[in-house]
Amino acid sequence: MSTGPEIQLRPAQMHLYKPAAPAVATIVKNEPCTAGRKASGFVRHVEFDVSGTELVGRCLPGQAIGVLPDGADKDGREHKLRLYSLASPTRGEDGQGGVLSTTVKRLIDEDWNGGGLFLGVASNWLCDRKVGDKVRLTGPNGKRFVLPVDSAAHDFVFFATGTGVAPFRGMITDILESGVKSRVALVMGSPYATDLLYDSWLREMAGRHDNFTYITAISREPNQASVGGATLGPMYVQDRIASDYATLEPLLVSERSLIYVCGLAGMEIGIIRQLARTLPASAREAFIEADAEALSNVDGWARTMLHKQVKLTRRISLEVY
Ligand code: A2P
Repeated sequence: MSTGPEIQLRPAQMHLYKPAAPAVATIVKNEPCTAGRKASGFVRHVEFDVSGTELVGRCLPGQAIGVLPDGADKDGREHKLRLYSLASPTRGEDGQGGVLSTTVKRLIDEDWNGGGLFLGVASNWLCDRKVGDKVRLTGPNGKRFVLPVDSAAHDFVFFATGTGVAPFRGMITDILESGVKSRVALVMGSPYATDLLYDSWLREMAGRHDNFTYITAISREPNQASVGGATLGPMYVQDRIASDYATLEPLLVSERSLIYVCGLAGMEIGIIRQLARTLPASAREAFIEADAEALSNVDGWARTMLHKQVKLTRRISLEVY
């Protein structure tokens, strides 16, 4: 298979606001977006009203905004900017591009030696904001991880772990609301079913749109096969490529398809290995370029080999952190 037609990405605005002169937005919503009250992580959906700023209508899913937390560190230096992926579609949460959103996980850790609690500065500050609070924003940032200009010319397979689902919430809304008949699949990974993000909305979208498939991969609990209902063990997103190949094959072997991967660093190589093992050569070559020597040892592929012995085509986009 050829690598298909040239892919033209949507033109993205960049750096409308910089840290020295940020936009000031108002929090209009801040709520948990995990599936169950007893989720193992604390993840919130936060919305910002940016009306009156240059950000209105100029931010795309796949881009990030910078957040400048108030306050200073123990040495009196202002807190540094943190980037958060937008979760909002192009039309914003309000339909006018005036309300942006993001998906924030509270960073909470314990110092195993000293026993103290470590709380991430920006994530906890943002999660603690109340409706009406002001937040300083910069950006938008990023122009590589956006949808193509012509979504109708493509089908899409999205792989997310945790808050990596944020850009896909916006992209899925953009694609499905535009009415194009492109096929879209989201494979979403979480440690427990209670930690799935935007789960009820995603189920509702899958119920309403025949061209959208939502598949979950739970890493610390059993899973179910999406066809047939057999019980499977704990899974990572990449395991769904093999277990749900019947569902994903039409998207993965089509010349139209684009793959987007967003989430934990490390997930991308697992997905690439699994694609290399599962896809027929013609479909594999549409996403992955590797010589015979590399292909003889797919199990040995490591992240350090990416873009060297294992090259990716423009049909697969990565955003890992
Ligand atoms: P686990 O932590 O059980 O190993 P969250 O951000 O909510 O913690 O979710 C991240 C999800 O991604 C978890 O299910 C986590 O599994 C999983 N995960 C961790 N490492 C990888 C990897 N290398 N490839 C795919 N999924 C991963």
